[in-house]
Formats: sequence, structure tokens, C-alpha cells
Amino acid sequence: MSEYLVKDVTSNTSGITRPMFVQEITKIGEGAFGTVLQANLKNALSEPNSPQDIWIGPFAIKKVPAQTEYKSRELQILKQTNHPNIVALKYYYNYPNKDDNNRIYQHLAMECLPCNLQSEIKRYYINKSTLPENHIKIFTFQIARAMNYLHSFQICHRDIKPSNILINPENLLLKICDFGSAKVLEPNQPSVSYICSRYYRAPELIVGCCIYTTKIDIWGLGCVMGEMYMGKPVFQGQEPMLQLREITKLFGPPSDEFIYNSNPQYNGPLYSHKIYNSTIDVRFQKVFNNANLDAIDLLMKVLVYSPIERFNPSQIMSHKYFDEIKSVKFNVKSRLSNDPIKVDSLLFNFSDYELKTFGKLINDILPRS
Ligand SMILES: Nc1ncnc2c1ncn2[C@@H]1O[C@H](COP(=O)(O)OP(=O)(O)O)[C@@H](O)[C@H]1O
Ligand SMILES: [Mg+2]
Repeated sequence: MSEYLVKDVTSNTSGITRPMFVQEITKIGEGAFGTVLQANLKNALSEPNSPQDIWIGPFAIKKVPAQTEYKSRELQILKQTNHPNIVALKYYYNYPNKDDNNRIYQHLAMECLPCNLQSEIKRYYINKSTLPENHIKIFTFQIARAMNYLHSFQICHRDIKPSNILINPENLLLKICDFGSAKVLEPNQPSVSYICSRYYRAPELIVGCCIYTTKIDIWGLGCVMGEMYMGKPVFQGQEPMLQLREITKLFGPPSDEFIYNSNPQYNGPLYSHKIYNSTIDVRFQKVFNNANLDAIDLLMKVLVYSPIERFNPSQIMSHKYFDEIKSVKFNVKSRLSNDPIKVDSLLFNFSDYELKTFGKLINDILPRS
């Protein structure tokens, strides 16, 4: 596509800024604010034909307008994070965008993964099937692990959905990406409630809650897990206010207490008339008809109106739904090869920091020996 020289490219690992050549290869993503391109980089100060004189990559370079209109916390948060299930930032720089009047764009060069979870779900759906259950377990576990890490720093992603989750279908590695909406939440400090994509919005956000917690991401995790079983979004509201109606179809209407705690001023629809007689359990089993009982049990602890009662990431990781992947006998293959995947180094390579965050639940999270 194009090649250009950037004077000041900063390495996120060393902090060193130096000139680099950028070789853009192809567009891999398009979003509300910018584009994501696959690209290679080369140190511009290397001696010709020296070992340093090589293109490195590919990277995924995300370009968004720099400065005021787009208040990006993305760079700040990506600089701060270091976790196997969170996309790693390698380099960053500002550079004018010739497709936009040479306005300055922020460029984030991240490690590049082959696909996102939305395309993976779709791939099975068009073949009238859904992801194998052991893949759903492995992916959900990694989402919970990423959230356990983020939430331990009060970092709330605020836009959890399948297109913001990257995967490598060869080894089933998963990484959360798109920190464009993420924020460090301060206790009892208000934040905007109009974040998160419609289908994945927690009920407290829908009714306009401004003092929310990282539990809004957990609702998103439940929606993504459910979507892997169903092949399509669990709650598909046709418009923002109808999103709550979709949720009430499964859970019944929210309680007065929930509304009071979320937003006492809420005066929108509550969908409080009863539309069925069955219990929540029965409706869950009907909606997620290919999920086993442990999966249903976990979903019912994650998709909960009350944010306080909603499971936190370490509770999710210790749920019996994941017993199978923690067993020494567990065996899983990707759709691309017949070789078994080593889950120990994929799922349980916990840092000392992570181990500390598990507290008393540690023995229920570690693999069985
Ligand atoms: N590191 C990456 N590796 C591979 N693909 C990526 C990467 N980052 C983003 N993408 C792709 O680009 C799309 C848009 O990137 P994202 O960060 O979500 O930006 P936006 O804020 O525009 O949604 C993603 O849905 C994903 O398909
Ligand atoms: Mg995105």
C-alpha cells in the first residue's frame, strides 16, 4: 500500500524514541473513529544490510484523530497494561493523515492477531453450527482472566463485544482489544452512561446509571459467552430503549430496588407486565438449548440485574463450568490442526501478581494436579 518515514516513533517496551519506516500492507478494521491497518516497521537508523536492517511485524496499527475531540485514554491504558489476554502495544507515534486534511492522528502499533471473535462466531453460524463447547470454555476463561487483571486496577473496558475480542484460531489464544472507551473508575465518581454497544449494555447503563462499577464489563462477558452458544447476540434490541425489553423477556422486569439504585430519576418504560409463567431456569435452558447445566448456572450468575450480586472475574474463573479445562485429562484441538493444544501454558501461566489477586479462590482457579 504505502511506505513512509516517521521521525518520532516510541517503543512501548524500551521507551526509546527513534525514526522508523512504516510499510502499510492492508486494512484490517474500520471503526467509528478510525481505521486499523496491518503494517511492518523498520528502524530508520540501522546500517544497510546489518542485522537491524529488517522489517519487523506484522503489527496492527490503529489510527485515531489525536488531541481534543477524541479524548483517548487508550494509549494511557495500553501503556499501563501487560497481560497475555490483553492486546500488547509495541510502538506509538503521531503522524498527519493525508486522507483527512493532514490532521494529526495518533497511531498505535499493536501485536496483530489473525481474527476477532465476531468473525469466528459468524463462521460457525453460516455453517448452521456454533463454536465447540470446549472452545467456548477456553475463550470465556480468558475473557474472565483479562477482566480479573483489568478490574484489579479499576480499569473498566466499557465496550465488551465480540468484535473487540481478538483470537488466534490456531492456538485459541484470546486478547481483549479496543481500549478506546476504557476508563479507570474512581469509587463513587460519576461517568457517562452512554457507553458500550447496545446489545452488550448492562441494564444499569440502559436506565441511565452514572455511578457504575467494573461489573458492567461482566454483563458484557455474559452476553459474549451466551452469543458463542447461540451464534447470534442474546439481547438484540431494535433500538436503545427496546434493549431493556429484550432483557426483560428473559429475566422479567427489573425490581424497583434495582431502578432506585441505578437511577432514581429513570422515567422510561419498565416492561413490567408479565409475559410468561415459566421460571428463569426454564427460559435459560430454552434460550441456550445447546449449553450444559454448568454453563447455564454460570450464565445465571453473570447475567444478573444487580451489579453487586453479579459474579466478579475470579468467581467466574473458579466456577465448576471450568472444571473440565482444569483437568489433566482435558484435550482440545483447534479447527485448523489435529495437534492437541497445551492449555497449561495458554490458560494457567499466571503471574505472581495475578495469583495474589485470586485470594481465597486460588485453589478453585488453578488446574487440578
Ligand atoms: N491488534 C489487532 N490485531 C488484529 N486485528 C485488530 C487488532 N486491533 C484491532 N483489530 C481489528 O480492527 C477492528 C477495529 O479495531 P478497534 O480497536 O476495535 O477499533 P474501533 O474503535 O474502531 O472499534 C477490530 O474489530 C479488529 O477486527
Ligand atoms: Mg472496536
